[in-house]
Amino acid sequence: MVENVMGREFDFLIIGSGIAGLSFALKVADAGSVAIVSKTELAETNTSRAQGGIASVIYAPDSYEKHIQDTLIAGDGLCNVDVVKKVVKDAPDQIAELIKWGTKFDVDEKGKYSLHREGGHSEKRILHHKDNTGFEIQRALVEKVRTHPNIEIFESHFAIDIITRHHLGHVTERWMTDIECFGAYILDLKTNQVETFLSKITMMATGGIGNIYQTTTNPPIATGDGIAMVYRAKGIIENMEFIQFHPTSLYNPSEKPSFLITEALRGFGAILRRKDGKKFMHKYDERECLAPRDIVARAIDNELKNTGDDYVYLDVTHRKAERTKAEYPNIYKKCLSIGIDITKDMIPVVPAAHYVCGGIKVDIHGRTSIKNLYAAGECSSTGLHGANRLASNSLIEAVVYADAAVKDTLQKVDAITLKKGIPDWNDEGTSHTEEMVLITQSNKEVEQIMSTYVGIVRSNLRLKRALDRLQILYHETEALFDSSVVSMKLCELRNEINLGYLIIRMAQKRKESRGLHYNIDYPKKLE
Ligand code: FAD
Ligand code: SIN
Repeated sequence: MVENVMGREFDFLIIGSGIAGLSFALKVADAGSVAIVSKTELAETNTSRAQGGIASVIYAPDSYEKHIQDTLIAGDGLCNVDVVKKVVKDAPDQIAELIKWGTKFDVDEKGKYSLHREGGHSEKRILHHKDNTGFEIQRALVEKVRTHPNIEIFESHFAIDIITRHHLGHVTERWMTDIECFGAYILDLKTNQVETFLSKITMMATGGIGNIYQTTTNPPIATGDGIAMVYRAKGIIENMEFIQFHPTSLYNPSEKPSFLITEALRGFGAILRRKDGKKFMHKYDERECLAPRDIVARAIDNELKNTGDDYVYLDVTHRKAERTKAEYPNIYKKCLSIGIDITKDMIPVVPAAHYVCGGIKVDIHGRTSIKNLYAAGECSSTGLHGANRLASNSLIEAVVYADAAVKDTLQKVDAITLKKGIPDWNDEGTSHTEEMVLITQSNKEVEQIMSTYVGIVRSNLRLKRALDRLQILYHETEALFDSSVVSMKLCELRNEINLGYLIIRMAQKRKESRGLHYNIDYPKKLE
């Protein structure tokens, strides 16, 4: 049985321990008490898996204008220009902050930062730590938060829902437009107790959604919980149709998540080839292998459909072996572990669900449409990415927007009082022995529906099929949720169904093809 226990009270409640959550925590911690909630371990995040690096203008001939233009071009007409300018211009200061906190970026023999180039970037501007930049950033941030006296860390704690007036029973017309967040209900996965975490400010930093697809680069934590929580609380969610598929994940069907082969490898000269060895990217874009990833992923998808092959190859065998091994040691090691020596053999790759461009709508200060609730990182939609994210722009967006939210919240936190009279989590229900098999099966069905009908190439018929099938799962799962003791797996399933619904509905509303959203019934972009 899940039990309710006494509530906890904090100035700042942060849900998520990736770059967005931890950088926010470090900057607000001197101003009040902070709780960081993470559903597994602190370092089990998308952030830890980031390979290529973090984009920022560092040296001439690069310039803010070039980074802005590259971001706008990738975004295919839907970026918010003010947001793009803000992120690009704030980036160097935020990089300096990461370095101050202990992150080590690679430098060259002259002591200058070594910069990579990735698809869609007109200059070398990707700061990196070998090919495991995210791991290094996460390491530095985790070390810092663990030693801060005002920060309390709650690992293996799962946020079920944010608390709004809805939970007080005041469901009036007004709460639909004037919603306020008072904290969240959190399930302690070790004790199985639901605790009420009250907070003046809540920061949603729950990351991505990759696990609603069969093939993804995202770790298992990425089930879009934050977006689903805010959607259920009637907050504004936008741009969910723009799901980014990374063109090159390692083809190794028994492995989930799929191992990423960084785009930086193409910046380093790696070439995409069909299984018969022929190059194909010149048929799709003049930038060839360095075109933005929506174009590359669609090109690969098309080649696979035409040839019937299961994968294409990424070929870096023409580069000097020693250099490849030195710059991409993790990819070299990983591939070798499955019998591929990337200095001699081509790497089999396929596209995989990688990043959600939309999410919880925030303004330039990181505020959501719900009072005292902020969002940053992958779960948020700032307007930076538009219809397609430029490579390595998400880590920088997360840290810039966490910083914007810090500045806004520090001005108001002292004036906010904690809400009294919040009821305990209502957990009437029983635990059925058959529940787990129902949940895992439904989970597989969600992944299958999304991958088959709502992947890289969509159509009206496929989207309708997806919605019809998802609706059955929705009703079954809500019934299970209402009659069962709450569990993380059940909540994640519920969240994934909410997300699938949002992606499909937003895809159906877009009567054109743009950026990452491609519908064969509307192949053209609307002017
Ligand atoms: P995350 O780092 O994913 O953290 C999410 C946190 O939320 C986790 O701690 C998780 O436990 C917690 N959480 C989620 N739900 C709950 C819940 N219900 N209750 C409690 N806690 C919860 N971007 C780049 O800019 N450059 C790159 O080179 C790059 N490479 C990438 C490579 C890979 C393989 C992947 C998967 C992504 C890559 N990205 C890259 C994207 C980037 O890593 C992510 O967008 C970014 O790290 C997201 O950070 P975040 O803080 O928003 O979320
Ligand atoms: C990569 O290294 O290719 C991933 C970069 C990103 O997702 O931004």
